[in-house]
Amino acid sequence: MVNLEKKLKTIIGGIIGSIIGGDVLDVGSGRGEFIHIIKEFKSFNKITANDIEQRSGDFIKEHFKDIDIDFVKADAGDLPFNDGSYDTVCISNSLHHLPELEKILAEMKRVLRDGGNFIINEMFSDAQDEAQMSHVLLHHWFAKIDKIFGRYHDETFKRKQIEKIVKKLELSDHNIIEYCWPIPDTKDTKLIEERTKLIDIGLKQLEGKDEFEPMKTEGKKIREYIEANGFASATSLFIVGIK
Ligand SMILES: C[S@@+](CC[C@H](N)C(=O)[O-])C[C@H]1O[C@@H](n2cnc3c(N)ncnc32)[C@H](O)[C@@H]1O
Repeated sequence: MVNLEKKLKTIIGGIIGSIIGGDVLDVGSGRGEFIHIIKEFKSFNKITANDIEQRSGDFIKEHFKDIDIDFVKADAGDLPFNDGSYDTVCISNSLHHLPELEKILAEMKRVLRDGGNFIINEMFSDAQDEAQMSHVLLHHWFAKIDKIFGRYHDETFKRKQIEKIVKKLELSDHNIIEYCWPIPDTKDTKLIEERTKLIDIGLKQLEGKDEFEPMKTEGKKIREYIEANGFASATSLFIVGIK
């Protein structure tokens, strides 16, 4: 665990604390999870949060009153910004939510100025330990629920697939760091209860659907896996590239 805390400190104190953000665009902002990280950059001027859903903007406007932030509702495959308008573009935990991933990454690169930062934060599914696999399995089970409701949500990528995506971007330089959030006791009873309760919440959404029974059976197996192996946050990649 000391190791994990060290890794996290490297990220927060090292790479993140050294980024000069300038004007920052965060694509697929959701509930602003990555905006908390942008706030830890060495500096930034203005943040533009982008999402295809207006509810993301409503949440962000309500929860980030302390910083200069705008929300732009748009499909990131067609961003309403001029070429080179941003000093930093970010996309966090969204790659596996995007059917038109290549188009969106190309748009992000277009609106980034030459020499600007291209930041990707994404969890991956392989090379995780037993407790971390609980996170991966749960995430993939919830991805299936999204699909049942017609929302695009793939399983998370393997580490090598993310590296391939980054290579295709043809950035002039990039730095890849692995990290995960430390969980002091992966077998803590309260933690296990909290995580397994999520399965009940997911099943509630499926009541009346044809998929309820098979998802219940799968959910039961995942619950047993979490109870036996504990729960830890999966390792993610934090990539800072330069255009
Ligand atoms: C899992 S959330 C990521 C939230 C946050 N960035 C994080 O780090 O946790 C993925 C977000 O991508 C948004 N999204 C999906 N397709 C999009 C698109 N074509 N353009 C912009 N945002 C999109 C979704 O609405 C959702 O809020």
